Amino acid sequence: MTKSGTVAILPGDGIGPEVIEQAVRVIEHLNQHAGAGLVCEHAPVGGTAYDLHGHPLPAETLALAKRSDAILLGAVGGPKWESLPRELRPERALLALRSEMNLFANLRPAILFPELVAASTLKPEVVSGLDLMIVRELTGGIYFGKPRGIRTEADGTRTGFNTMVYNETEIRRIAEAAFQISRLRQRRVCSVEKANVLEVSELWREIVSDVGRGYPDVQLSHMYVDNASMQLIKAPKQFDVIVTSNLFGDILSDAASMLTGSIGMLPSASLDANQKGMYEPVHGSAPDIAGRNVANPLATILSVAMMLRSTFGRSDLATRIENAVRQALAIGHRTRDIAAAGDPVSGTNEMGDAVIAAL
Ligand code: IPM
Ligand code: MG
Repeated sequence: MTKSGTVAILPGDGIGPEVIEQAVRVIEHLNQHAGAGLVCEHAPVGGTAYDLHGHPLPAETLALAKRSDAILLGAVGGPKWESLPRELRPERALLALRSEMNLFANLRPAILFPELVAASTLKPEVVSGLDLMIVRELTGGIYFGKPRGIRTEADGTRTGFNTMVYNETEIRRIAEAAFQISRLRQRRVCSVEKANVLEVSELWREIVSDVGRGYPDVQLSHMYVDNASMQLIKAPKQFDVIVTSNLFGDILSDAASMLTGSIGMLPSASLDANQKGMYEPVHGSAPDIAGRNVANPLATILSVAMMLRSTFGRSDLATRIENAVRQALAIGHRTRDIAAAGDPVSGTNEMGDAVIAAL
């Protein structure tokens, strides 16, 4: 095997390890049969890492992530760790990885596989053929803005506060990323903010418009976030690329995920300026179903496809994985989350088997 890249595998908590296991099988299959040349190294993250090492992002895990070409992450979090102090909670590991590695561009595609039209809660004519991309700013905004905290006032009452802040440079680089991505798609970008109320959004709109002037071939529109959330449910196919801030992207991408039937189908990529990236399913750790062989591994497997395309320049292998997923669905494999009433249900492992067989 010729080595073409290194991947840090961070399974995490809940269903993370089970879905990662299936994704790693896909990587190993491509190493053996298609010369993918990916060298995988595992490390703990999240609550699992806290249990082992007393910290959700141990120094060795961060070091591995930094020296690898790409990171494949399962999911973090669970009720077991919810009462820990904020800085030791599993979610901190995710936020620290994003910010330590400058993974500012979060790509969350929402694509409806034709086989799953019936799995969406929306009418088939509203969602069939859906293919949109949310480009979420991931290392700034209210998630990281200062000041933040909870303070006690002189009269003893407490006040909680966070700061939504973006500078021009941050807005410009995420806008550039969105326009570039739109050139591989339908060349339409919708920038989502709340410029009718927030100054930070006013600047966002101004800078995105300025960046847009450098892309005369791309159609730029602007939408307030409240309207965008309504439009996403009402007529989602009007969108091609949505570019938005960290918090708005967090919310809109969960909404978009349900258009496709299940959050269990959606991969994501978080990229830095050099296409180094962290890849993870959009879904969380789902502790309620962990360890029962019912989780849907397809979002994680599709994240491997995004990784091969964006970090390793192997669109050929990415397409091969996506086709294999499509085929597994076409021959009737359904995990519980995407099964219609009466469908036979495949487990996590069986779905992995079906994808590998189709590969
Ligand atoms: C996401 C998640 C995270 C976020 C949480 C787990 C910190 O909801 O990736 O969308 O809010 O960014
Ligand atoms: Mg979220």
